[in-house]
Amino acid sequence: MMAPLALPEPVAEALGRMLDPARTGQGAGQGAMIERYRNRREPGAAGLVSDAERRAYLRHRFPATFAAVSAALATMPPALAAGIADAVDLGAGTGASAAAAAVRLPGLTAMTIIDSDRAALALAEPLVAAANPDLAVTTRTADAAAGLARVHSGGADLVMASYLLNELPGDRADTVTDAMWHSARRAVLIVEPGSRVGFAALIRARQRLIDLGARLLAPCPHVRACPMGEPGQGDDWCHFPLGYDDPFEDQQGRSTEKISFVLAILPSDETDADGIASPADNRIVKAPMRRTGHVVLDLCTRSGTLERRTVTRRQGKDYKAARAADWGDAWPDTQAGDLSGGPSDTEGDPS
Ligand SMILES: C[S@@+](CC[C@H](N)C(=O)[O-])C[C@H]1O[C@@H](n2cnc3c(N)ncnc32)[C@H](O)[C@@H]1O
Repeated sequence: MMAPLALPEPVAEALGRMLDPARTGQGAGQGAMIERYRNRREPGAAGLVSDAERRAYLRHRFPATFAAVSAALATMPPALAAGIADAVDLGAGTGASAAAAAVRLPGLTAMTIIDSDRAALALAEPLVAAANPDLAVTTRTADAAAGLARVHSGGADLVMASYLLNELPGDRADTVTDAMWHSARRAVLIVEPGSRVGFAALIRARQRLIDLGARLLAPCPHVRACPMGEPGQGDDWCHFPLGYDDPFEDQQGRSTEKISFVLAILPSDETDADGIASPADNRIVKAPMRRTGHVVLDLCTRSGTLERRTVTRRQGKDYKAARAADWGDAWPDTQAGDLSGGPSDTEGDPS
């Protein structure tokens, strides 16, 4: 269900045209930028500090963030996705998230992309347009929080930010989260890297949205305290790995991007009338362990706990469903699974 989209051909072509090989050779700026984004362990500003870095970001991160945001958007119930007419992308950078929304949301007619970096927005605009030529794309050079109030006071159906909050000091991230909530007419989507640093920013924003009255659609099946954010959870944090094809990656095989995210809706949303599904009963939060004759699932449950359940061959169609289930999928309570212990503490074995 969290299936990333492949980069659409027109976007890949537009991206390819922008990536002049002479300017994107392995310069020192690129190496530093890639290191910061892939392996950063501390929160704080990362930023794109030069034209070389912006283009390196396009080359190395655009396909990954497009995959990440398209996968997060795939958790949006179809009735809601179809009802999103306009969206704002904060910290839009070179436009991957906005491009993903342009493809994923069938009713989207207007997209505003806001960033403090004018040069990044100039790269983003044609890429978002390539993703959906019918979309009205507006660019705004502004600070994320101030920008929402100043240049987009009318709000939007969807307000999204990806790979932004972990770059901001905590109080600034809080201000941005609040501004996102107050500007959203229907939904807020926040996507962060699936690292400790990204999750720390994400869980802080999640709690803030809940305190403001949000209902969560994904991945959380509840609005209680995140059981993976609790002290004592050791090395665990809630994240989801996504396999995707990177058209610019030289190495063979699929690339993997890890994300932490939250999709929230306003409590006033007429979800039932719109046919929007309730949140998942349970979310599979690690790789299912497929053993001979049984599958072990690690679940985050509607009651806000982590539970390990075992589905055996004797459980017929549920066993078949468990064998096909993926990390990140919903697991309904109507499907089987015997409790097989308390909170899990081991990484799942995807075999
Ligand atoms: C890691 S990039 C993410 C870009 C894009 N969202 C994506 O997923 O590909 C972070 C972006 O946030 C922007 N940014 C950082 N702090 C900002 C702020 N306070 N206001 C507006 N934009 C900001 C940076 O200029 C950069 O373009």
